[in-house]
Amino acid sequence: MIVAIDGPAGVGKSTVAKLLASRLGFLYLDTGALYRAVGWGVLRHGIEPTDAEAVAGLLPKLSLQMEVTSNDVTVSMNGTDVTKDLRTPAVSAAASVVSAIPAVRAWLLPVQRQIGNKGSVVAEGRDVGTKVFPSAPVKFFLEADPTVRAQRRHHELVAAGHRGAIEQTSAELAGRDDRDRSRAMAPLIPAEDAQHIDTSSLSADEVVNRMLAVVTAKL
Ligand code: DC
Repeated sequence: MIVAIDGPAGVGKSTVAKLLASRLGFLYLDTGALYRAVGWGVLRHGIEPTDAEAVAGLLPKLSLQMEVTSNDVTVSMNGTDVTKDLRTPAVSAAASVVSAIPAVRAWLLPVQRQIGNKGSVVAEGRDVGTKVFPSAPVKFFLEADPTVRAQRRHHELVAAGHRGAIEQTSAELAGRDDRDRSRAMAPLIPAEDAQHIDTSSLSADEVVNRMLAVVTAKL
């Protein structure tokens, strides 16, 4: 069983995907962490994320490994655990830029599907329901008011020790959204058979309870 959850940054995807996976005893697959790992690798090697040729050339040198449980992912790059370095604003921006490069998406596709083959999975990202697992029996597309999304992301960053104004977080989110929605390959769009949930005024538990009702009806 695959549950696909897509939507833009700050809608609460990770929070509800982890809760849902834990409640169901499924694995949690954070596909964004894979794009972030590539973004991290690109910055680490001093490559410009917009330089598609150089980024594609780097991929064969990256050895990427992801361990998943029901509420956690661990990402290693060439043997080093880089999980903690993946959530900085610089890596977020680089991930969004490299995720528009077809070679990067093609490289990460089998990695995601392999994890999906390990058992029942709650997978979250941008194209999980449309491209990675198009035949997933349950798909959700989360949305939320842009102000609410910026506040949520800002709180996450502050909790993780990053400083910076909410206006900056809001502008970064908007920039990332534009890129994610307008790229030619696998843009952020809802799958036709996805159920839409607006999380603006819902708690994480409320969202998860709605999802659980849908998933358990399919089990
Ligand atoms: O979900 P996230 O914020 O960790 O994702 C980081 C970036 O990775 C996001 O800006 C777009 C990209 N991404 C993607 O293109 N496809 C996915 N399935 C997941 C993430």
